[in-house]
Amino acid sequence: MLEGHGVTKRFGGLVAVDAVDLAVHEGEIVGLIGPNGSGKTTLFNCIAGYYRPDAGRLTFRGQSLIGRPPDAICRLGIARTFQLTRTFADLSVVQNVAVGVLYGRAGIQRVGPALAEARGLLDYVGLGGVADARVGALTLAQRKRLELARALATRPRLLLLDESLAGLNPAEVAAAVELLRRLRTELGLTLVIVEHLMQVIMGLCDRVIVLDAGRKIADGPPAAVAQEPAVRQAYLGTRAARAARGPG
Ligand SMILES: Nc1ncnc2c1ncn2[C@@H]1O[C@H](COP(=O)(O)OP(=O)(O)OP(=O)(O)O)[C@@H](O)[C@H]1O
Ligand SMILES: [Mg+2]
Repeated sequence: MLEGHGVTKRFGGLVAVDAVDLAVHEGEIVGLIGPNGSGKTTLFNCIAGYYRPDAGRLTFRGQSLIGRPPDAICRLGIARTFQLTRTFADLSVVQNVAVGVLYGRAGIQRVGPALAEARGLLDYVGLGGVADARVGALTLAQRKRLELARALATRPRLLLLDESLAGLNPAEVAAAVELLRRLRTELGLTLVIVEHLMQVIMGLCDRVIVLDAGRKIADGPPAAVAQEPAVRQAYLGTRAARAARGPG
């Protein structure tokens, strides 16, 4: 479904994403993990069209993503959530989701049906009761669900979730994980999730891709990846571990 070859993104002298190859198959839930600053969000931004990679290829269902703006990539069927939630504070919850319906898809949508559809999506993510509230009144867990509803409003086939569980309490995490599972089983979505909570990655993902300093250092089933020395070293992050990995 999604394929990347040699994807590279530099910021000045810093190589934030360094020649990454990746493949995501339809129906998979893939975890993208790595220490802080390892390039996870930057890779998402390359896929979603917020950054143009300096090198490499990226295709979605056989179509190149390179050079397409974010709205065009969204209309191809890729939606993402943001690590820091980005909502329209002056709009109500349901209006925020309706924006996704109105502007996230090909063709002209009408406001009335868009609002009705937005309410349905809010019910689906468990926010039906706060549809008319102002965004400022929501808890963090609710804002994360709102981001998800807004992404779903664009009718994606592939969803990129950037730390959508960060800051939630254990009960909220468990509920959110159940919701993510339903996105696959009920809506047939493919998910790539960036997440620091290892128990979530281990329990939810079919496969895990590990980045460290922009490079892909592991790719495989969660249990196998967790055993790999390079992954353990990346997470220890000590000088000794870096020395053991060698130059470059
Ligand atoms: N717009 C930017 N300009 C300059 N440097 C950037 C920019 N965005 C990211 N970086 C740098 O690129 C590297 C990768 O950052 P990125 O945000 O992709 O990491 P991450 O894996 O998402 O980290 P975290 O787990 O903290 O969210 C970091 O060194 C970061 O400081
Ligand atoms: Mg990030």
